[in-house]
Amino acid sequence: MENTRCKVLGINASPIKGGNVEHFLNHALREAEKEGGVITEAISLRGLKISDCIQCNWCMTKQTADKPCAINDDALPILKKIRDCDVLILASPVYFLRLSGDMACLIDRSRCFIFGKEKPMALRGKIGVALAVGWSRNGGIETTLQSIEWGFKVHEMWTPSVHHAASFFGTGAISGPKIEKENKLKAMEDKQALRSAGLLVKKAVQTAKSKTFLSD
Ligand SMILES: Cc1cc2nc3c(=O)[nH]c(=O)nc-3n(C[C@H](O)[C@H](O)[C@H](O)COP(=O)(O)O)c2cc1C
Repeated sequence: MENTRCKVLGINASPIKGGNVEHFLNHALREAEKEGGVITEAISLRGLKISDCIQCNWCMTKQTADKPCAINDDALPILKKIRDCDVLILASPVYFLRLSGDMACLIDRSRCFIFGKEKPMALRGKIGVALAVGWSRNGGIETTLQSIEWGFKVHEMWTPSVHHAASFFGTGAISGPKIEKENKLKAMEDKQALRSAGLLVKKAVQTAKSKTFLSD
């Protein structure tokens, strides 16, 4: 870490304001803060323009610290925050048994940190945590978590797991099984998920704080 504070960045890829993913992510960030020496920030992709990577390869020859990617859209400031954080929490709703399109586009855009001229493999050694909320227990939470974690792996990032919380590929929460008009935040009643997410992010922060052994 560049300074003594561990920067935890959480990104929420749900289009629903005040929805399950937003609350689940905020819970995880509050748990991270309990570790002390932590600065958290939550970003929502709702309403933002996040184009997909077009493989123009501009980043390979023209990237600067201030402009990691050629595409001038809302992903640009977010990419810089990703580059500058210690722990990255990516939180997605489950859509069609996988991560949301916005989250997929953002992960694709992070390719500029693989081959980037400014610093190749710029995310190497950072800690990644995947969170997901789906309507049903067996309806794609694990595939969503895995696709996020595989993104971390491409960057040579590290991912914690907590065996006794059954969090091996991040943590998923359930917002179903039926939509109740008066309670649309069922994920916040998923006690096992809340506990697991807390344990996972705390381990992520602890690992980031002691990660001299993880860096180059
Ligand atoms: C387009 C779309 C596809 C969805 N596909 C799935 C799915 O495959 N499995 C599932 O469990 N839930 C699915 N859901 C339900 C959402 O994952 C669920 O409502 C979740 O709570 C969304 O998080 P949010 O409340 O923050 O928006 C889908 C929802 C939408 C809008």
